[in-house]
Amino acid sequence: MARIFYITTPIYYVNDLPHIGHMYTTVVADVLARFKRMRGFEVFFLTGTDEHGQKIERAAREQGIPPQALADQVVGRYHELWRELAITHDDFIRTTQERHKAGVRELIRRMSEAGDIYKASYEGWYCSGCESFYPETQLKDGRCPDFGHPVERLAEESYFFRLSAYQEKLLAFYRENPDFVRPASRFNEVVRFVEGGLKDLSISRASLRWGIPWPGDDRHVVYVWVDALTNYISALGFGSENQDRFQRFWPADLHLVGKDILRFHCVYWPAFLMSAGLPLPKQVFGHGWWLKDEKKMSKSLGNVVRPDYLIGQFGADPLRYFFLREMTFGQDASFSDEGFLSRYNADLANGLGNTFARVMAMARRYFDGKTPPEACGESTLRAKAEEAVARYLESMEGYEFHRALEAVWELLSAVDGYVTEKAPWGIFKAEGASGRLSRIMYNCLESLRLVAVMISPVMPGTADKVFDALPTDDAGKKQLAWGMLPVSAALGPDQGPLFPKVDDKAFFAEVKVSEQVSEQGSTQQSELVSIEEFARIKLVVGKVVTAERVPKSKKLVRLEVDLGEGQPRQIVAGIGGSYQPEELVGKLIVVVANLKPATLMGVESRGMLLAATLPDGSPVLLTPEKDVPPGAGVK
Ligand code: MSP
Repeated sequence: MARIFYITTPIYYVNDLPHIGHMYTTVVADVLARFKRMRGFEVFFLTGTDEHGQKIERAAREQGIPPQALADQVVGRYHELWRELAITHDDFIRTTQERHKAGVRELIRRMSEAGDIYKASYEGWYCSGCESFYPETQLKDGRCPDFGHPVERLAEESYFFRLSAYQEKLLAFYRENPDFVRPASRFNEVVRFVEGGLKDLSISRASLRWGIPWPGDDRHVVYVWVDALTNYISALGFGSENQDRFQRFWPADLHLVGKDILRFHCVYWPAFLMSAGLPLPKQVFGHGWWLKDEKKMSKSLGNVVRPDYLIGQFGADPLRYFFLREMTFGQDASFSDEGFLSRYNADLANGLGNTFARVMAMARRYFDGKTPPEACGESTLRAKAEEAVARYLESMEGYEFHRALEAVWELLSAVDGYVTEKAPWGIFKAEGASGRLSRIMYNCLESLRLVAVMISPVMPGTADKVFDALPTDDAGKKQLAWGMLPVSAALGPDQGPLFPKVDDKAFFAEVKVSEQVSEQGSTQQSELVSIEEFARIKLVVGKVVTAERVPKSKKLVRLEVDLGEGQPRQIVAGIGGSYQPEELVGKLIVVVANLKPATLMGVESRGMLLAATLPDGSPVLLTPEKDVPPGAGVK
């Protein structure tokens, strides 16, 4: 029988564009999905979006568009982002899809049939930021306990779920399934919460329109968490005619979630499923948060890091690697540009990139562009490789990704040490392409094959590049037994460094520019500004006189722009990825003329041009619709 692995991510709210905190869970899920596939499992990997509820209704209202339109717009960005990050999900569920609504109706029908739903009046402290009612005892300084959002006293008629009836059953279930919640510290939190007593849960809202109508009573909509949690089964066809997928994959092997939503997954969700007579998921893992300046990155705190620049500049793999290497899975970690760049340069450009380049250059040269003719039986390097593989497998199975990667990097430095110790260049000089040289180089190349297999779930693009250079068949791209690299087979051509080294100065200047660009492109609604505040910004039309690239920078362009001031102004803009300098000369553009000067990569910029941002983050210049003299005001 095929071994099955069903893994899910939370479904993401569509009130804002994704930031790296959202991407993290999906990247980890993708790494596990790829790893399990590599180990022979039949994997079903689900992600999606949570589109109902007050948060979304409110965000759409602020933007003056219907909630569905906002959802469609943000979902587009998620699809695109998952493609850019090489995510291999098998399905993407949206809670506004009919198949999902059918699942929710069926779950509620079963819970009613079990006698677990009744109608009563509900009064409580409601936090619209978290979509949650909080008991008085949980409020902190009169605000919601998690984020300090304001709460309001709400009373309404509501359908209730008899959660209190499940307290003992849940505790018994936890006792029998001590691995249900990971890490263990989080498990204890959950158990303590349930031991503290469970109150019945209000699971409908009369005060809200944007949701799934309550079956048989459309004055109410289904509470957004009942709606959202059901995605894990509605995506499998629960509530539809065709139950094949549901039969095959449910219960889930792993729900990956952030620690902030653990209670919903470890208390409410199992109780709903028990009530509906359905099997419970096997495990929930609550990971930590990405912090920025010591706080959880979140839209409401305004401290989010958006992924556009990092992916645009480096592609998916370095960011995927950073996520998995930097965070101890289960604990919090801090994101910083410096941290990212130092991992990139130290681990990827130097560690992996240099070792690969060094070994490949020697192998190509000594054996005429082929793998060596003679493989090797025992060797110190083989022993180290086998040890690394064992540690890697154990760590991956135990969700200790940073340790798994550590094991791989130890192997890389063992290869380096082995090369230094054996000095193949000396042997080649003395003996030519001898048997001894062949065995030494085989050891190095085979170790690199194993490295590529091991990193392939985390950095699939990089693994493919290594496999383009090493002649491996499909089995050799997946299997971790020593000795699968064929002898005397043609090596692929040199394609340049895997990870070109990045200059710190250039990196940070471009980060700055891209942050300006992506904040303009964000759908984030800041507070409203008055007309007086707006009038302080001096926008004028300018004509580009000269344009040239800033040396060593991929994106920065230095422009001289005629703003009708007599002397042209120097402006540095991050548009070089989308525009050639030549095509800019003569163009009319719109410039913020009274911006504080900034120095980008040593060049002073006295103003900023305006550009729209495409969903992939690339800029499109704003230009007046008719000819206008330079210096004309814009309002
Ligand atoms: N829609 C609910 C989940 C419903 S699942 C049935 C939700 N959405 S969310 O968009 O707010 O968050 C989705 C996930 O992103 C959560 O697991 C949350 O923990 C994670 N992250 C959001 N910000 C994060 C960080 N700064 N760091 C790491 N993950 C965090 O909650």
